[in-house]
Amino acid sequence: TWTEWWTYEGGISGPEYWGIVNPEWILCGRGKKQSPINIELDLLLFDPKLDQPIYIDDSQIKVTMTNTGHHLMAKIYSPNITNVNISGGPLSYQYRISEVIFHVGKDDRDGSEHSIQNVSFPAEIQLVGYNSDLYGNLSQALSSTNGVVIIALLVQINASGNSEVEKITQHVDQLIFKGNTLELDDWSLFNLLPFESNYITYEGSLTHPPCFETVTWVIMNRPIYMSENQLQKLRSLRSGSEENPKGPLVDNNRGSQPLNRRPLRTNINFNNPVSSLCTSFTFKLTI
Ligand SMILES: *[C@@H]1O[C@H](CO)[C@@H](O)[C@H](O)[C@H]1NC(C)=O
Ligand SMILES: *[C@@H]1O[C@H](CO)[C@@H](O)[C@H](O)[C@H]1NC(C)=O
Ligand SMILES: *[C@@H]1O[C@H](CO)[C@@H](O)[C@H](O)[C@H]1NC(C)=O
Ligand SMILES: *[C@@H]1O[C@H](CO)[C@@H](O)[C@H](O)[C@H]1NC(C)=O
Repeated sequence: TWTEWWTYEGGISGPEYWGIVNPEWILCGRGKKQSPINIELDLLLFDPKLDQPIYIDDSQIKVTMTNTGHHLMAKIYSPNITNVNISGGPLSYQYRISEVIFHVGKDDRDGSEHSIQNVSFPAEIQLVGYNSDLYGNLSQALSSTNGVVIIALLVQINASGNSEVEKITQHVDQLIFKGNTLELDDWSLFNLLPFESNYITYEGSLTHPPCFETVTWVIMNRPIYMSENQLQKLRSLRSGSEENPKGPLVDNNRGSQPLNRRPLRTNINFNNPVSSLCTSFTFKLTI
């Protein structure tokens, strides 16, 4: 099927051809509001209207971690499972987190979808929510106006790593092959997020087919940390089934797309020395 068919590789299944091979994916090739993007700090516009923090429910949830062959992904099922609502920030509606997608590089130099000043990060974790004020589920929202929010967490490395990622990596042997799943009972998206109220936001798209331009992106202005060991375990996943394991499930990131005329808004107030300077990214850029 088409949903299975695309890849991140070169050749006709890869990103250069997504917009050509299937008419339903035309936005992947011709869209003007595509994601991801490279963030140039001198294009950031401070927006005083972005005066609300992002609210996310602090609840332990059940998730099904799945190796989809394209990504490691957490699927969060309603109806019996606690919803994780997200609102505030640039959002005019309430959204409900439905999936969490991992993008991981084959080594530490690359792996994130978004980059800052052309610097990539070893991984990027994306919390995908649908507009629950207007739509009933993610699949309906994906192609609908104001349908989706994606919170992007850029990953850096430190020795202690991340406790919510550890809940996955300690059982990584159950997720090696495409189709493998792992149930977690006590995952916390709240604890996965960095302790940070500054962010960058822009209007963009899904970063894989069908590349619908329905996504409000929110990129947190502070990385989260994984340990080298956690990253290595994620890199041990394969993109194929047990019978045909194919290559490692890494470098599953789309390249940067043109910003065109889109504004890149932020609540980082560059005139206020306390909240300013993209501190954490500046740190990244100077090491
Ligand atoms: C959801 O909860 C209802 C009522 O408690 C129950 O009948 C149903 O089987 C549950 N569904 C799932 C998928 O667990
Ligand atoms: C999420 O929002 C829904 C609808 O407003 C509400 O019923 C639910 O209690 C909220 N969930 C949590 C964990 O607060
Ligand atoms: C999503 O909502 C649409 C419209 O209500 C419905 O037709 C579809 O079956 C739902 N999909 C899933 C996966 O629940
Ligand atoms: C790694 O980062 C986390 C989150 O900022 C922090 O709590 C922890 O202390 C850091 N560990 C080390 C060894 O720096």
